[in-house]
Amino acid sequence: MTEPTPPDLQLRADGRLRHLLSLQHLPRTALERLLDAAQALRPQALGGTALRHTLAGRSVCNLFFEPSTRTRSAFHFAATRLGADVLSFDVSTSSSGKGETPLDTMRNLEAMGVDCFVVRAREDGAVAALAAQARDGVALINAGDGRHQHPTQGLLDMLTLRQAKGEDFSQLSVLIVGDIRHSRVARSDLAALRTLGCRDIRVCGPASLLPDAHELHGCTVGHDFDGLLDGVDAVMMLRLQRERMVEGLVPSLEQYFVDYGLDERRLMRARPDAVVLHPGPMNRGVEISDAVADGAQSLILAQVSNGVAVRMAVMRELLAH
Ligand code: CP
Repeated sequence: MTEPTPPDLQLRADGRLRHLLSLQHLPRTALERLLDAAQALRPQALGGTALRHTLAGRSVCNLFFEPSTRTRSAFHFAATRLGADVLSFDVSTSSSGKGETPLDTMRNLEAMGVDCFVVRAREDGAVAALAAQARDGVALINAGDGRHQHPTQGLLDMLTLRQAKGEDFSQLSVLIVGDIRHSRVARSDLAALRTLGCRDIRVCGPASLLPDAHELHGCTVGHDFDGLLDGVDAVMMLRLQRERMVEGLVPSLEQYFVDYGLDERRLMRARPDAVVLHPGPMNRGVEISDAVADGAQSLILAQVSNGVAVRMAVMRELLAH
């Protein structure tokens, strides 16, 4: 996949964010600044009114052209806890159904004073294309575009790993498993892990679900899940993206679980203190067992809580004056 986000579109001359579109090419200083800010915001992320002055008078619009539970809700709570006005634009009952384009939709909402659009789109690069057309001073946040990027998910995954394993990623062994080809989460995680200095990134999945080799440069790539688990500190499981798949890429869901599902027996091959992440929504019994998803090594709900703090950090940097 080519990178559809020009690196200079998302950063200001002073290195701060203008938009958040991709973790590819986001400098380590910016990434670590956002992670530090999110960590500091953790106490306020899950409730309270202490920071409601931060974005008072600013307006945020959630513009989701694909379904979402975690991302959309976390952005809503994050904006609310910072005091912004939030419009959760309902695409299904909007004039999008009459053929209005996303660009015209954005322009009309800009005309009502929206300062920030949180956009989830089906097409790779669609959020960057909107950002290139946005009014001066209006910020775009990519909440997932096709198979391309999901930068706030990448940030919350790194925050979760950092909390569990410390800030030095150079000694970490991380295994990403499953449907990498269709996964914007994997692309954001790979970019962030490389930027943070992780030297042992392993990638596992069936050949039909791996991307072109150039996307996996520097990674150990294989199909033997049991072998690749040996000694890893973190296992990042991915959802099988059936909505983006042509039929026949996996023989059957049952066989997929046999080959690439994470269960308790398999997890014992990783380090005893290994942690398990999954971006959700999970296909239980397809890529992960109930016992692992709900077990002591799972950080899946910690990821969700961190998602609010990360989105607060991103919106504060984009919008607070
Ligand atoms: N992880 C994630 O993006 O979940 P949602 O699709 O529910 O937002």
